[in-house]
Order: sequence, then C-alpha cells, then structure tokens
Amino acid sequence: MTGAPEARELSEESNMKRIFIIVLDSCGCGAMPDAEKFGDAGVHTLRSCASSPELHIPNLRSCGLGNIEGLEFLGPVEAPRGAYGRLAESSMGKDTTIGHWEIAGIVSADPLPTYPDGFPDEVLEPFKAATGRGVLANAPWSGTEVIAAYGDEHVQTGDLIVYTSADSLFQIAAHEDVVPPEQLYEYCRIARAQLQGKHGVGRVIARPFVGTSGNYRRTANRHDFSLEPPKQTLLDAVKAAGLDSIGVGKIHDIFAGRGMTEYVYNRSNADGMNHAMEYAGKNFRGLCFVNLVDFDMLYGHRRDIDGYARALSEFDAWLPGFLEKLGDEDLVLITADHGCDPGYEATTDHTREYVPLLALGKQVKPVDLGTRSGFQNIAATVAQLLDVQLKTSGKSFAGEILGNDAEGGVTMTPEKLAELALEAMTHAYAPYSGYKVGAALLCADGTVYQGCNIENAAFGPSICAERTALFKAVYDGHRDLAAIAVCGGKDGIVTGMFPPCGVCRQVMREFCEDDFLIHMVGPGGSVETHTLAELLPFSFCAGDHMAQ
Ligand code: THU
Repeated sequence: MTGAPEARELSEESNMKRIFIIVLDSCGCGAMPDAEKFGDAGVHTLRSCASSPELHIPNLRSCGLGNIEGLEFLGPVEAPRGAYGRLAESSMGKDTTIGHWEIAGIVSADPLPTYPDGFPDEVLEPFKAATGRGVLANAPWSGTEVIAAYGDEHVQTGDLIVYTSADSLFQIAAHEDVVPPEQLYEYCRIARAQLQGKHGVGRVIARPFVGTSGNYRRTANRHDFSLEPPKQTLLDAVKAAGLDSIGVGKIHDIFAGRGMTEYVYNRSNADGMNHAMEYAGKNFRGLCFVNLVDFDMLYGHRRDIDGYARALSEFDAWLPGFLEKLGDEDLVLITADHGCDPGYEATTDHTREYVPLLALGKQVKPVDLGTRSGFQNIAATVAQLLDVQLKTSGKSFAGEILGNDAEGGVTMTPEKLAELALEAMTHAYAPYSGYKVGAALLCADGTVYQGCNIENAAFGPSICAERTALFKAVYDGHRDLAAIAVCGGKDGIVTGMFPPCGVCRQVMREFCEDDFLIHMVGPGGSVETHTLAELLPFSFCAGDHMAQ
C-alpha cells in the first residue's frame, strides 16, 4: 500500500500503569507574585509549619522537598529521591475546587463566587418563584446559629432558611417536619440548576434539622450538590479511555461525581492514607486521585501551626511504606491545591501560594523541575503517561522526570518536526499550482501526523497540507495538539517561509490553544516559530457563538 506515512508514536516506552496524585490540601509553598491582590502578601504555609518544633519530615526532605526553589530552609539533600519543583496557579482563585480542577486540566478565569452580603435579588427571585417559598436569613451564618435564630419563623411560615459562609456556598436549612428531606433536595436541585455562570457557586447544600424551639439540631441528612466542571477533566479522559479512575476523599464532591469509576470518602487524613495504601496494594490500571483535607480544615483555617506541622509529620512517617508498595510502572505526584498559611493572622481564609510538586517512582529521575506555570501541567503529564486524550493548555513534564528529553513533554525538536514536514512535502499532489506543501503536526502525547496539499481540477475542493495533517489527527481522536511545522515551495523547492493560510489558522483555532506553536520552515531547514495567538489574534473560536 502506498500513501502517507504512518502516525509516529514517540513515547510508547514511557507509559505508566498506576499514577497516584496526592493532594496535601492547602500545603502552599510561598506567596505567588500576585498574592498581594488576594490580600495575602508574604504568606508561606510551609515556612510557618517549619517554625514549629512539631515538624519532622525527613522522608519528604529525602524526596527533594527542601530542594524546591524557595524551600531551602527545610534543608536540601545531596541526592533527592524524586523530581521536585513548584507550580504557580494559573486560575484566578485560591479555593479547593478551582485548584483541583486546575490539577485536572481546567484553568478558571474567575474564582467561584462568594456572597459576604447575602445573595442578590437576581439569585433569590427566581429561586422563590420556582419553589413557591420565601427566604429567611440570607447572609453568611454559622449553621447551628442560623437555625437557632430563624428556626421558629421558618416553622411558622414555611419560608426557607438560606445562608452562605466565607466559601462559595448556597445552603438551605429546613425543618424535616416542614420540608421533608426529599423535598428539600428537590429545592437544592432547583437552586443548582439556577446557580450557573457568574452565580455558579461551588456547592448547594441541603441542611435538614429537627427538634423544637430552642432545641433545633441538624440531622445526618445533609446533602451536597457540587458544581460540575465546565469542561472535560483528566478524570473524564481516564475513564473514557477505559482505565480505572479512583477518587479518594473529597475528590468525588469536587468533581461533582464525574469521571470516576470508583470512589471512597475519608473520615480523616489517617483514613485517607489507609485508603491510598489499600489502593497501592490493588492491581488497578489508571489514576488514583487522593485528597487529604485535614491540613486545611483542621489546622490551616484554625491557624494552628503546631497541628499543621504534626499532620505533615504524620504524612511523612506514612510515606515510605506507601512508596515501598509501588511497582516499576507506578508514579506518585505529591502536590497541593492552594495555600492556607496557619501563621497568617490577617484572615482565616486560604492563601494565594505556589504549590510544591514531588514526582516519585522507580523510573523517575531526580531532576529539578523548577517553577512551572500552571497546575494543569500535572494533567498533561498524567494524560501523556497513561496515554489518554485530554485537551488542556498544560505542558507535560513526563519527558523530564523520565529522563527522555531536556525540554519536557515530547521527544521532538522543531528541527526534527521540520524534517518530517519536508518529507511530507514529497507526497504533495499539486499539478495545478505546482506548489508542493508539507506539514508535520505534533500532538501533546508525542504522536506526529504528516500532511500534504491535495489539489483538484475544480480548484475549490483543494486542501492544504496543514488541514490534511490536522484532520488525520482529529479523526484519530487527538485533541491536545502541541505544534506544527509547515514548508512549501514551487516544484517542491523551499526558497522561503510558507506561512499557513487564513483558513488553516482558523481550523487550528478550533483545536489548538493560544500557545500552539507554528514552525515555518525556511531554506536549509531553518525554523521560525510563532504561537497561534500571534498568527491569529482576536480570533473567533469555539464558544464565542454560544456565549452569553
Ligand atoms: N497551501 C497549503 O497547503 N497550505 C497553506 O497554508 C497555503 C496554501 C497549498 C494549497 C495549494 O495547493 C497550494 O498551496 C497553492 O496555493
């Protein structure tokens, strides 16, 4: 059979069987450059913990925690056991949901909305209309105090007690005799459907209570309705590929139950570590995403430095036993979702910080990953190593931790890609214009697709080289595309750059992020590179015609 060359697989040998992501909830490692805008100048969760005599983390240090930029005070080691670095948050937020979504590949332009002055009429009026009930309280409240203050009025009128907190929550409290829990859940589902877009709160929570005036108490019938991630996540991609996608702890709630083949909740950090240990003993294939929330919930918000340090020491003591259970094809990524500096007295809120990243496993080289932009690099790395398709702006560091290349991501240079474009050019069918054009498209997982222009006697149906390559890749299911090299010239002789036409740029726009690279190949294989954002500014893209 003749025709275009086969797609090239470049990273087959680097596939992993089991990847664990362990999130030490709120374990930030120093203020981000924009921390002041978040009211968090100078925060540093790990440095505050290091001020406590309770901090004993020899194992984390031996893995390279103290080798991370800005964490030298923990004590770097000569030969760290893993790869180490820190990640800056791309999203404009510092909450758990947004942090985890970013780890799973989604960057959020805005934080989830909070309501320190209560919910506006544009939120409450449709809710009242849909439930046929009035609303009481409507302010940030403690859950027990709000039922003590408004319980009687609620029982008399049937109006719902609606309140929030410092977090992005819409909570509805109702007495079980006035509004049976099933009915309350229905009201929550109504609120959940209404609270989308700019009022897309993290969670709507049903808070049923029982008892009599002066003795109201909440029941175990609480139910949470989380906001669904707005796009495909790493978990969705892992599940769709037929692999195991396991959520441990809050993961199930954070992703609104989506993208998991299996999940378990934690009663505590110790319980969560037990669950992770159990999974390390199981023969699964895919992702195990673990959240340990005590750091944040019990110690960070309560500004309990010693407690936080003790919790870290407990994790540290647990870690070696866990690592022992890993096989040759397993990888562990230890990171965090935001900061919550227990030494920061100005607030009790989360803090805008970098998060640490440790990559551990038998195949991992002890490299310095430096400071990287975006937690979504984790999603890109995991997707690459599990060989699943995920569209994310993240850049994989798989190549670096496995020692396959120095740049991270894929084992491919612009020059090598240019060579493949030149080869593709020889396949061109261009009897009418005489211009032969070749393209080589690099997918984020390392696969390369080649394309050439194919002309037609009717001229109009002709197709460019770039689109031939792009459509082949898309047909094969690729959505995460990294770069394209393009070359062309009269009779197949390259005398200058061959910039992609406007139609091809628009087609790239459909599937590629702003940072997609376009390498224009010149004479002698020279390469000039631009991003898609540079070649197609102010572009019309997917979503624009569906916008508000
Ligand atoms: N062509 C491409 O293959 N890619 C481009 O981006 C611009 C144009 C082809 C189409 C046609 O076969 C020939 O070049 C001359 O226009």
